[in-house]
Amino acid sequence: MQIAGTQAVISGGASGLGEASARALAKAGAEVVIFDLDEARGMAVAAEIGGLFCRVDVSDPVSVAKGLESLSPQICVNCAGIAPAAKTVDRDGQAHDFALFSKAISVNLIGTFNLASQCAAKMMQAVAQGPDGTRGVIINTASVAAYEGQIGQVAYAASKGGVAAMTLPMARDLARSGVRVMGIAPGLFLTPMLEGLPQDVQDRLGAQAPFPSRLGTPAEFAALICHIVENQMLNGEVIRLDAAIRMAPK
Ligand SMILES: NC(=O)c1ccc[n+]([C@@H]2O[C@H](COP(=O)([O-])OP(=O)(O)OC[C@H]3O[C@@H](n4cnc5c(N)ncnc54)[C@H](O)[C@@H]3O)[C@@H](O)[C@H]2O)c1
Repeated sequence: MQIAGTQAVISGGASGLGEASARALAKAGAEVVIFDLDEARGMAVAAEIGGLFCRVDVSDPVSVAKGLESLSPQICVNCAGIAPAAKTVDRDGQAHDFALFSKAISVNLIGTFNLASQCAAKMMQAVAQGPDGTRGVIINTASVAAYEGQIGQVAYAASKGGVAAMTLPMARDLARSGVRVMGIAPGLFLTPMLEGLPQDVQDRLGAQAPFPSRLGTPAEFAALICHIVENQMLNGEVIRLDAAIRMAPK
């Protein structure tokens, strides 16, 4: 699918990987709509790229429906996410907080499902385009934690494992409608989450990747987003974008 002339909805587009994706898709000619909770950053990014911002909580299906009300996207990128850290049982013997576990699932897994499924319903109303009869593409952000969750990542890993597992059945569900579904499982990327860490900690994290031994840049993630949109044969798969990193227990 060509990016130019499409409408792209990007959750988490106010920051990090979502922001880079918003910038790259806008540069390639898409009309970008950012869905995020962070109004100040979301509006600033949208203004810079000539896009739109809408305050949407992806974990709330009503909020997602309101955000999509007047839109007809061909591209849906799910980047909204949170990464709470807690062990199954903490050092004082307390079981993992239910609300924290539930929040990770609500935002990362159910939030991704909400936006993906509602965008798909919108895409199906459109006229199919091109020789393949394309109506759209949905890209969900998992994590290498879907496969190698570290100590303290039980909730995050469960949520991202769900995102990865959803990819194939969602692609199969939507195949007849001409909508592709892909996942990306990033390794370690330099986003505001990691930018707050001291340089030596950033360097140590980056050194864990075999090659290149550094943190990924949001622009490298965004480049894969654009490639997935443009390459019609990519469907139903989760791509690890991780410089061959395999996370250790801690
Ligand atoms: N940075 C990494 O190294 C890395 C690695 C693997 C996976 N990921 C995943 O990539 C995605 C983006 O990560 P990032 O590093 O850019 O994070 P980030 O914190 O920079 O951006 C996440 C954005 O999501 C928004 N958000 C959070 N909850 C929301 C909600 N309920 N509704 C709408 N928006 C919400 C935040 O306001 C923020 O703008 C996340 O899903 C994250 O789990 C990141």
